Amino acid sequence: MKGHGVILFPMPFQGHINPMFQLANILHAKGFSITIIHTQFNSPNPSNYPHFRFYSIPDGLSENHAVPSDLNHIVTLLTTLNSNCVTSFRDCLAKLLSVNLEDHIACLITDALWHFTQAVADGLKLPRIVLRTSNVSSFLVFTYMPFLCEKGYLSAQDSQAENQVPELPQLKFKDIVMFERGDLGRLRQFIAIVVQETKASSGIIWNSYEDLEQEHLTKCSLYFSIPVFPIGPFHKCFPASSSSLLPQDQSCISWLDKQAPNSVIYVSFGSVAAINETEFLEIAWGLANSNQPFLWVVRPRLVHGSEWLELLPNGFLEMVGERAYIVKWAPQQEVLAHPSTGGFWTHCGWNSTLESLCEGVPMICRPSFAGPGRIMQVCKPCFGELGLPSGIQVGRGEIERAIRRLNGGEAEGQEMRSESCD
Ligand code: UDX
Repeated sequence: MKGHGVILFPMPFQGHINPMFQLANILHAKGFSITIIHTQFNSPNPSNYPHFRFYSIPDGLSENHAVPSDLNHIVTLLTTLNSNCVTSFRDCLAKLLSVNLEDHIACLITDALWHFTQAVADGLKLPRIVLRTSNVSSFLVFTYMPFLCEKGYLSAQDSQAENQVPELPQLKFKDIVMFERGDLGRLRQFIAIVVQETKASSGIIWNSYEDLEQEHLTKCSLYFSIPVFPIGPFHKCFPASSSSLLPQDQSCISWLDKQAPNSVIYVSFGSVAAINETEFLEIAWGLANSNQPFLWVVRPRLVHGSEWLELLPNGFLEMVGERAYIVKWAPQQEVLAHPSTGGFWTHCGWNSTLESLCEGVPMICRPSFAGPGRIMQVCKPCFGELGLPSGIQVGRGEIERAIRRLNGGEAEGQEMRSESCD
């Protein structure tokens, strides 16, 4: 008997791979057979998914290609991937469609950033559904790009950060100022193609939910005129641990087990964002001076020009002692669900934000270029003061105060914690 099959094509970055594989598991649980086409770069581990079929395509990148941390290079990499993969993806997809006799392939689901796949799907008469891995409101900002550019708002000064954009009062300049730091022309062009090819698709799946983004979902439906499916948060159905590209250090869970309830501040800036040496040291001192226990994810090369922890001052680790635990990569969902975790200092990547919201963990927000600028609306009720655009240096005193307020301010911390999405 013929079943229903779906072919999925994830963008090969951690924050995109996780939701795509979670979606694949959700669809599989609904009875769909799953085929994954993936790049050789950052390829998933098929042995974690014996129930899926995997096809690897050449992507033209060198074996040791790293994920860049600055916006210009990310746009370059995304543009390169979109042009390098056209032929290999089309050939693979055409072959799969021609030989797949058991399953009727219902559609192709690709990350929104794989814009070239719309033309390929059209050519093969296969419906394409887009998965947008970030939040709805940040995608709306993409659709405002031509207007924001025309008005010169993308070059706003940091001093204007708190001002509202006159024509779009729901936006503050700090929510969009991050675009200024990239090569605007190329970024604009890339975003314009992504929006255009999403408009040409058969629908958008969001890792979000109506109660959180109702107003923006309505606007999106009007703008794109295609069905929208806000079926998140995906991680509540399937955890992301099996699609982790880096090994998750489980030892931090044993350390968390020894800490008092709601006492630990968890610090992680996701898989892409990087910081400079000054920021790194201010964070280190802010954490140390807060006198709270902290679990800090310092990814290898998180700090520009440094391999791991070598920039920490001599004696720092001895001084913080048992109160600190530093890992290269954590089992984040488990950490956020742990009773000892009292707060999350995050770069506001959408996966991290959802994972934290769903566990009722209050956040200190330091949005990064790759994260959703409009996330500020979500974070504000949790913590406004550290909601600064990336690039603005936050001092150790400010960090210390934020952590104390989050963990120490009883009434405030309680109130923040009660805002979970369960
Ligand atoms: C980026 C963007 O920030 C995000 O907005 C976009 O939607 C996808 O690309 P990233 O910067 O990596 O992603 O952040 P985030 O979206 O938070 O994703 C990180 C993922 O890695 C989360 O699922 C998190 O649970 C996981 N993670 C993070 C770990 O498993 N261990 C860690 O130590 C840190």
